[in-house]
Amino acid sequence: MKIIVTKDYEELSKKAAEVVKDILSKHANPKLGLATGSTPEGLYKELIKIYENGDYSFRKAETVNLDEYVGIDEKNEQSYHYYMFDKLFNHIDIMKENIYIPSADQENLEEATKEYDKMLDGVGRRDVQVLGIGNNGHIAFNEPADQLNARTSIVELTESTIAANSRFFKSKEEVPTKAISMGIKDILNAQTIILLASGEKKREAVKKLLEADKLDTHFPASMLHLHRDVILIVDKDAMGEE
Ligand code: PGA
Repeated sequence: MKIIVTKDYEELSKKAAEVVKDILSKHANPKLGLATGSTPEGLYKELIKIYENGDYSFRKAETVNLDEYVGIDEKNEQSYHYYMFDKLFNHIDIMKENIYIPSADQENLEEATKEYDKMLDGVGRRDVQVLGIGNNGHIAFNEPADQLNARTSIVELTESTIAANSRFFKSKEEVPTKAISMGIKDILNAQTIILLASGEKKREAVKKLLEADKLDTHFPASMLHLHRDVILIVDKDAMGEE
């Protein structure tokens, strides 16, 4: 795992944008894996700036997202569909038909997972996947458990994740308890993974990740040790450096 420590969140976001742009620029039809949550927001702002400055066009890019809540309308502000359009897609020249986000707004959720897997198989290996890490070590919504899903699944969110994500909702009760999430096998199916971690709250998870010498399903981020090209971009607060 390559580690880049930045002085703060702003520098982390700029560095991440630079790495993403450099990778995408090498491909005629780049495939970009995207994540939601507060950590990548700065990266998306930087990518918008790069686009606005005329330094990169997303017209030929395909994007694939990791997860979505179950039980929230895609037009609702709390949905990850809304987030992605609001924070990135509405501000760049990506083609709508090249955007893939798992959808949980159909009756048959099992069917939804199969459809997403089929799409993932069609898109194949992403050139770069942006990833965050949960305080409990989750990646996408793959929560600590005795077994981890290899492929797209409907998952129950843990108390810790519901508590962490309640900051985006009016109350904890409003946070969905289920989500549709890409599985570990597909998360790892990217040439490069850029893992972002910012702030003191992530310090323990980062420490645990860097110290992990076992693949531990109760710490899903440990599965990233199976991948040969993970770049951890972490600020000093999350790294525990002065
Ligand atoms: P955050 O979420 O970026 O909002 O901290 C990361 C995650 O839960 O994967």
